[in-house]
Amino acid sequence: MNSKKKSFLDFRHYNDQDLVSLFQSAQELRSGRHQPWSFQGTAALLFFENSTRTRMSFESACWRVGLGPVLLDANSGSSLVKGETPEDTILNVAAMDPKVVIVRCGSQLDLEKIDREIKAPVINGGWGSKSHPSQALLDLYTLWRERPLEGLKLLIVGDILHSRVASSHFEVFKTMGVQIAGCGPLVFKPKTPIPDFQWFDSLHEGLSWCDSVMALRLQLERHSEDVHLEAEDYRIHFGINKNNLSLLKSEALILHPGPVNRGVEITDEVFGDSRCRILDQVNSGLYVRMALLKRVIGEGKE
Ligand code: CP
Repeated sequence: MNSKKKSFLDFRHYNDQDLVSLFQSAQELRSGRHQPWSFQGTAALLFFENSTRTRMSFESACWRVGLGPVLLDANSGSSLVKGETPEDTILNVAAMDPKVVIVRCGSQLDLEKIDREIKAPVINGGWGSKSHPSQALLDLYTLWRERPLEGLKLLIVGDILHSRVASSHFEVFKTMGVQIAGCGPLVFKPKTPIPDFQWFDSLHEGLSWCDSVMALRLQLERHSEDVHLEAEDYRIHFGINKNNLSLLKSEALILHPGPVNRGVEITDEVFGDSRCRILDQVNSGLYVRMALLKRVIGEGKE
């Protein structure tokens, strides 16, 4: 193990100053005021689960910081179909000396162990239902660019229990003083106590309380048999639409990490609301991931 590696599996090595420094770096990269980079080496992207945003955002970010992305998509023609395990797959790709290894995988893969075994730093690109720290970073950056974070009240609506994104939000948002509340069917309320976390059974009450709102996808694929929930029922009680948006403050921002089930979590007209930042989140993701890659490969500010 290389103790100097700056892998990014979670936020345990990030305080508020690190986060601000990363966001400032993302701002600088966004401005385009930087020297063109020479080739730094390759970045291995191993995606064992489906992705559009995270995968293409990291691929784009790699190109833009001088890293050549090499991609393994588990759905298209890898030796996983011959019985090779994801662990062995990562070890083999890591033996090709990439500068960084970016992994999206299920909860059963031990990313911490992989990180101890390989030379390159590892970035968590979405780890089962455990965590999705780069998404939490870009969500926080999207808010940071437009609003003071200290004391900001964020309402997360929906499937918090099964959401790796929400799990990473709980880990990092309080570092910057953001207060999080949840709202949704009780079956989605986290089962373990979370400090300073409150829950709204009513979307109307939640929207009236918050300074910004984030809707989450209804993750039907992660629901066990004891979750009996109809998408239509969810839409009626917890879908964000033109009518209930009138309860939201005029300066509030509307977020969703994607992918969106249009007409379930949010309706089409929400995309046309001036407070909606869903595509800005995707744009922010590119610059945050560029800054993150630079930090992880050793070029970012400490
Ligand atoms: N938000 C997010 O992780 O989207 P993808 O699953 O498309 O990467």
